Amino acid sequence: MKLFKILSVALALVFCLAVAGCGEETSNSGARTVAVCFPNTTPSWQRNGDSLQRLLEEENFSVNIQFADTVDKQKGQIAEAMESRPNCMVIGAIDSASLADVLEKAKEYEIPVIAFDRIILNTDALSYYASFDNEAIGDAMGEYFEAALNLKNGGGPYNIELFAGGPADNNAHLFFRNTMAILEPYFKTGQLVCPSGQTDFNSVCTADWNSANARTRMQKLLAEHYADGKPLHAVLSPNDDIAGVILDEIKKAGKPAPLISGLDGDPAAYERIKAGEQTFTIAKDPDVLNAKCVRMIKAVVEGTQPDINDVSTYNNGVITVPAYLCTPQIFDKTNIESAK
Ligand code: BGC
Repeated sequence: MKLFKILSVALALVFCLAVAGCGEETSNSGARTVAVCFPNTTPSWQRNGDSLQRLLEEENFSVNIQFADTVDKQKGQIAEAMESRPNCMVIGAIDSASLADVLEKAKEYEIPVIAFDRIILNTDALSYYASFDNEAIGDAMGEYFEAALNLKNGGGPYNIELFAGGPADNNAHLFFRNTMAILEPYFKTGQLVCPSGQTDFNSVCTADWNSANARTRMQKLLAEHYADGKPLHAVLSPNDDIAGVILDEIKKAGKPAPLISGLDGDPAAYERIKAGEQTFTIAKDPDVLNAKCVRMIKAVVEGTQPDINDVSTYNNGVITVPAYLCTPQIFDKTNIESAK
C-alpha cells in the first residue's frame, strides 16, 4: 500500500513536470511572432529595425518586419500582417492620424499594438508607447542654439532659417513647438532674424520628412534671400538626413557652414561633426529604445511587467497611452569621439 502511494505520487509528479515542460516548449517553440511595421528606410529607421529584430530573436521571437513609404502601403502591410495573427504588433506610423481604422481589426483579433517612436492618434487599440522624450528633444535643440549664439546675454543679430519634419508625424510638431518656445522671444528682440520670413510650422515643414523636399526648399531660400551675399548664421534642421542636404546646398552656394542641428546620430552626421560641418546631433540609440520596447512586447505576450516612466503626456485623443520615454544624447565637437 505504502509502495503504491509512493508510486502514485511519483507518477503524478512526472505528469506535472511533463505538462509544465509542454507549456515551456510551446512558448519557446518559435510560435511567438512579432510583426513590425516601420515607416521608411532612412538610416535611422533601418538601424531601429535591425536592432529590434536582433533583440527579439535573442528572446526567441520570430520577427516579420516591413518598411513602407506611403500611407496606403503601410495600411496594406499592417492589414496583411494581422491576418497571420502575430502575438504583438509594433508600429512606427507614417501618418500618426491615419491608422485608427486599420487598427480596429487588431482589437477584433485581440492583437496587442505598441506604438514605436511616433504615437498613433485617435485609437484605443494601443497598449504602450516606446519612444524618446520628443518634447525634451525640441527643448534641447532650442537650448543649444540659445547657448551657442549667446542669446541670453544679448548675442545677435543672427540670420536663421528654420526647417521642421513631416506634418503627418506628431513628433515633428512636438520637436518644432518646443524649440520655438525657446527661440521665439529672440525673434521679438531682433537677436534672431529670419530673412525668408518663414517661421510657422506650415511654411517650414518637410513633407514626409523627405530630404529631397528639404533640398528644393533650401535651394529656393538661398536663391531668393541670400544671393546678395547676406550671411546665413544658423539653420534649424529637424534631423541628420535633412541636415546633410541643407549643408550640401549651402556648400554649393559657396557659403560657410552655419550653426546647424540634427537628430538621430546617423554615422554620416558623426563624420560631418568631426569635419566641422554639422554642429550637433541628438542621438537616439536604437538599442536603448528597443530594450524598453522588447519589455513591453514581453509584457503583452507573457504577462510580465513593462518599464513605464510616463502615464500622462501622450493622450492620443482617445486614451492616454502608458509610455517609456528614453533620454537622447547630444553629440557635438566636444564629445563626438565618444559617439558609438
Ligand atoms: C523620428 C526621427 C526621424 C524622423 C524621420 C521622426 O518621427 O522621431 O528620429 O528622423 O521621424 O524618419
